[in-house]
Amino acid sequence: MIKVLRSVILLLVVCSIIGYKGNVLAAPVLIDSLKRMEYRGYDSVGIATITDGKILVRKGVGKVAEVNRSLDLGRMPGQMGIGHTRWATHGGVTDSNAHPHSACTNDIAVVHNGIIENYSELKEELMLQGHIFKSQTDSEVIAHLLEAHYSKEGSIKQAMIETCKRLKGAYAFVAVFEEGTISGARFDEPLIIGIVDNGYFISSDILGFLKYTDKSIFLDNKDIAIIDGEKLELFDFEGFSIKRPITQVAWELAAVEKGAYAHHTLKEIHQQVQTIIEGMSDSKEKMEAFCSFLTNAKSIYITGSGTSYHSTLILKHIFGKFAKIRSEAIMSSEFQYMAQDPIDETSVLIAISQSGETADVLQSVKAAKQMRAKILSIVNVPTSSLARISNSFLNVNCGPEIGVAATKSFTGQLSALYNVTDTLCHGCIGIAANKNELIAAVNLILSTENNIAKIVNTMYDVKDIYILGRSLHYPIALEGALKIKELAYIHAEGIAAGELKHGPLALIDKNTVVIVINPSDSTFDDTISNAHEIKARGAFVIGISDKENDLYDHFIKIPKVKEALFPLIEVIPLQILAYYLALKKNVDPDYPRNLAKSVTVK
Ligand code: AGP
Repeated sequence: MIKVLRSVILLLVVCSIIGYKGNVLAAPVLIDSLKRMEYRGYDSVGIATITDGKILVRKGVGKVAEVNRSLDLGRMPGQMGIGHTRWATHGGVTDSNAHPHSACTNDIAVVHNGIIENYSELKEELMLQGHIFKSQTDSEVIAHLLEAHYSKEGSIKQAMIETCKRLKGAYAFVAVFEEGTISGARFDEPLIIGIVDNGYFISSDILGFLKYTDKSIFLDNKDIAIIDGEKLELFDFEGFSIKRPITQVAWELAAVEKGAYAHHTLKEIHQQVQTIIEGMSDSKEKMEAFCSFLTNAKSIYITGSGTSYHSTLILKHIFGKFAKIRSEAIMSSEFQYMAQDPIDETSVLIAISQSGETADVLQSVKAAKQMRAKILSIVNVPTSSLARISNSFLNVNCGPEIGVAATKSFTGQLSALYNVTDTLCHGCIGIAANKNELIAAVNLILSTENNIAKIVNTMYDVKDIYILGRSLHYPIALEGALKIKELAYIHAEGIAAGELKHGPLALIDKNTVVIVINPSDSTFDDTISNAHEIKARGAFVIGISDKENDLYDHFIKIPKVKEALFPLIEVIPLQILAYYLALKKNVDPDYPRNLAKSVTVK
């Protein structure tokens, strides 16, 4: 059994991790940071602090505020510590699986985000050496590995290097050693140093320390950091010393506060006039540099996940229709299974991601890079991993999006995508020229929020909601369904209206609600006949359009805009509907169950 070393504490998966070493009580600082990053995962919370050479750990199931109240985390002693919020993948949502985890003898504490793919063989090996595991998590293995190497090497630097060499998978972890040293390492998960007077933060997210400093160091893959006293040392997995630039973070703290709104999600829905403007505000030079990769490309692929995948479908459509560019839109989680051989140095992959940290998107980009394709990306976090590995990227610049359900980032993405297409087709869509019309339209829709909210009283207890749309309205139908699923936990499905008679019509009866996205454009007549078909089966029909029709049991009016630009505005009533359905069902719209804002594991 291990004699020298005392213990290792660990955090894991799509979580938020934070470490702090400074000259004030660490616990209240760590709790405040975890609250700001709670959108990353909110199954359980834990903190470890060091005082008088001893590690104290407190952890529990629930959200930061609840666990803080029940375990009085805020009064844990010591000016250095680590913290974590968890989004469970390996091991149930239990106290023993909550983090931090201790290794055998309590002298080292470690926090972790990601997945250790080879944890079971490492666990077996360590158990044969006498280590005793207390959780079902993959991550606890790092705790014991560090302990084993530290007792052999007697040096924190060597123990970190040897531990990283043994781990397979995606991870960022931070260890605190009872002698008062903090050390962190990253491989395919974000890890950032925050620089404050007389101290440092180390965090998985800028929001972890934004309140205290905007001076940050973004660690690259295979970087290790050691914070000892007031000294910060950086080196790579081989032990060679490295230098990383200090970056000034552009975001204001106020941007992450709810302000007068009841929820971040509602605040972000109401920010969409600004996000549409920001989405088309990249400089002419930046836009031309971005587009130059496209004009020279022989094949173009577009990828994203969730809401960002719906943006890829819109881009594929407007590229084809307006810029006469053929492209293929691929869900990032499916990218690895598609035939890769057509991709080569003449190909461009456009990756769309709000966070810029989604594992499936990063994996697709890595695969395309291996085929020597050029990488373009559309992100909302210009310091994200995706932006940093792209040949060129555009910043949607809609400010931090805290609500787990993407709202303003979607319209921001669309605005940027229309702007790219307009640059390639010399303004043939005219998004900039129609900016004022768009702004007026969004303001008008936001002003009808209460009318939309009233509709939920007639539909919140239905089991199934179907959303119909044709052409550019189909990806919006998919997006509306996703919002209703993730915010109100109601089964909802986006259907290409033309596919109705090929099967889905069988689902329609008097217990179903159907939302028809049907602005007065080239799809209007065909979609109206679909609305007749579903009405004939007794469905409750809600129409979203600039043109009223007796068919609709409820009519949500949207202003008429240029045909191609309807997607930018018609999604907003669906976001508002989903938000009020969540309230009606008494669920927290900002932190939907089982979800996380940035899915950094495959
Ligand atoms: C959308 O509301 C969800 N939060 C989710 O589908 C999200 O769009 C997806 O995880 C992709 O995130 P990204 O844009 O940060 O890559």
